[in-house]
Amino acid sequence: MYQACQCGSSLPNQNAGIVNTATLALSSGRGRTRTRTRTGTDWELFKFRVLKYSDIKRQKQPVFWLHSHVNRFRNSTERENKWSLRGMTALVTGGTRGIGHAIVEELLGFGATVHTCARKENELSKCLNDWTDSGFPITGSVCDVSVPQQREALMETVSSVFQGKLNILINNVGTNIRKPATDFTTAEFSTLMETNLGSTFHICQHAHPLLKASGVGSVVFISSVSGFVSLKSMSVQGATKGAINQLTRNLACEWAKDNIRCNAVAPWYIRTSMVEQVLSNEEYLEEVYARTPLRRLGDPEEVSSLVAFLCLPASSYITGQIICVDGGMSVNGFYPTHN
Ligand SMILES: NC(=O)c1ccc[n+]([C@@H]2O[C@H](COP(=O)([O-])OP(=O)(O)OC[C@H]3O[C@@H](n4cnc5c(N)ncnc54)[C@H](OP(=O)(O)O)[C@@H]3O)[C@@H](O)[C@H]2O)c1
Repeated sequence: MYQACQCGSSLPNQNAGIVNTATLALSSGRGRTRTRTRTGTDWELFKFRVLKYSDIKRQKQPVFWLHSHVNRFRNSTERENKWSLRGMTALVTGGTRGIGHAIVEELLGFGATVHTCARKENELSKCLNDWTDSGFPITGSVCDVSVPQQREALMETVSSVFQGKLNILINNVGTNIRKPATDFTTAEFSTLMETNLGSTFHICQHAHPLLKASGVGSVVFISSVSGFVSLKSMSVQGATKGAINQLTRNLACEWAKDNIRCNAVAPWYIRTSMVEQVLSNEEYLEEVYARTPLRRLGDPEEVSSLVAFLCLPASSYITGQIICVDGGMSVNGFYPTHN
């Protein structure tokens, strides 16, 4: 009687509060087509109306769904749910400083329960104390994610703390060694590869059953503009971030069937401890400003807000994307700084 909605979904959305709209194309059999539109929030009633309509008209031709599930909410609670992480569990790697710290605070603010990790026990304890004193539900592990046994132990802890279900995984840990490609030692190359790419991939592997078990999962990778454009002395770091970008696209497709979305966020210079030293050079900083259309550095909170959005139900149709948070740097071709 009716076919798949041509917007790509196989059935109208039966979730409470969603207003379905169906446009029925009724063929007269003489090459003429009339259309009728029906809407409804109650799925059973809606289906009855549509079927009755096509029955009255004794249609032999299939009736097409041209539109369905228009996003309209019956009450404000449904809108609040769309912008809330209440009841969700999250793992954020490297949450004691910089971008990871801001992400932890953003996810807690949206109502998630968070587990985080870092290598330095004293910094981790201080952060955990601050957050729990403020009443936030958070736990943490001392862990160097570049060491396979330690990240396996981390994932066992996460599974036990969250009873085998994880909604959100933020792969934030990353490091940098700035050198011309010809000067890299084998050990330095391995450190960058293992910390940035190996750890990220294996944590994803370990997290997959937990993300799947939660019923609705979201993975966000912290990439970099170095994964798109060449930056001085960053061949190896850029290669790890480029690989993360492609991993994002592949896992998005591979895990879509498990209702797990995968996206990446690619920052340019963000004010954190990682880049303090390089940006302490005034001349270098001026060049960074000159290359950045917004003429300033970014703050960690300007990255964490996008990360949170990519975890919220509000972004439920976004997957496989790499979004730059870069003040326009990655789209800047040639634009003189003085007129
Ligand atoms: N800042 C930027 O300008 C910028 C630009 C583009 C991309 N990014 C990316 O953003 C991410 C975060 O960078 P950030 O600038 O926020 O760094 P950051 O200020 O150095 O903070 C790094 C955090 O990760 C933890 N960490 C580092 N290595 C770890 C390891 N092996 N195992 C576990 N925890 C570890 C650190 O704690 P411990 O030291 O105690 O382990 C700290 O909590 C990285 O992936 C980076 O590549 C940053």
